[in-house]
Amino acid sequence: MKKITIAIDGFSSCGKSTMAKDLAKEIGYIYIDSGAMYRAVTLYCIKNGLFSGDEINIPELERHIKDIHITFKLDEKTQLPRTYLNGEDVEDAIRTMEVSSKVSPVSAIDFVRSALVSLQQEMGKEKGIVMDGRDIGTTVFPEAELKIYVTASPDIRALRRYDELQAKGQEVKFEEILQNVKERDYIDQNRKVSPLKRAKDALLLDNSLLTIEEQKEWLLKQFEKATQQN
Ligand code: DC
Repeated sequence: MKKITIAIDGFSSCGKSTMAKDLAKEIGYIYIDSGAMYRAVTLYCIKNGLFSGDEINIPELERHIKDIHITFKLDEKTQLPRTYLNGEDVEDAIRTMEVSSKVSPVSAIDFVRSALVSLQQEMGKEKGIVMDGRDIGTTVFPEAELKIYVTASPDIRALRRYDELQAKGQEVKFEEILQNVKERDYIDQNRKVSPLKRAKDALLLDNSLLTIEEQKEWLLKQFEKATQQN
C-alpha cells in the first residue's frame, strides 16, 4: 500500500503525542515529535548560557545554530524514538518544567524555525511518517494526505501534564502548570512565524472527553479513508 504523510497539530499537552505514537506503532510508520526538537534547542541554550533569566541572547543563538544537531534513535525496549542533542540522549532532560517554561520564546525565533522545518521535511521525504507539532499541516507538510487538529480544554491538559510529571517524581504545582499551559497557548497562537492554527483541510478532534481507545479507533478510520483516497 502507498505510504502517506500524517500531520497532527494542536495545543501543548492535548494528548496528541500519545495519539501520534500509538498510531505510528499500529500502522508501522515512523513517529517524529517536532516539539522535542524545539525543546532540544532550548536545552542547548540553557546548557550553553544563552539565557539570562528568561531573556534569550538571540544573536549568540544564531551563531550557535549550526552546532546544534538533533537526531532520534529508537529505544530498543519501548520501540519509541528518543531525542539526541549532539549525540547525547536528552529525552528526559527536555521534559522538565524549566525547558517547558523557556521553549515558547525559542520556538518563536524565525531562524530556529526555518532550521527545524528543513530538518523535519528531510525526515519526512520518504513519507510513511506521523509527525506532531503546531505547524506540521500548515508549514512543514502542507501536502500531507491526512491532517488532524487536536483540541482539549486547558484544565484537562494541565491535569494530564500534572499527572505525567508527578508520575516521573517531579515536584510540581497544578496552578503553575495551568498557568504555563495558558501562556504557551497564547504565545503559540499569537507569534508572527507559523502560529498554531488549524489547516483548512485538517480534521478536528476534540479529545477532552474521549478515551484513548475511542481516539485510536477514530484515527484508524481516518487513516484507512486517507490511504484509500490516495
Ligand atoms: O508539543 P510540545 O509541548 O513538546 O512543544 C514544545 C514547544 O515547541 C511549544 O511551546 C510549541 C513549540 N512547537 C512549535 O512551535 N512548533 C512545533 N511544530 C512543535 C512545537
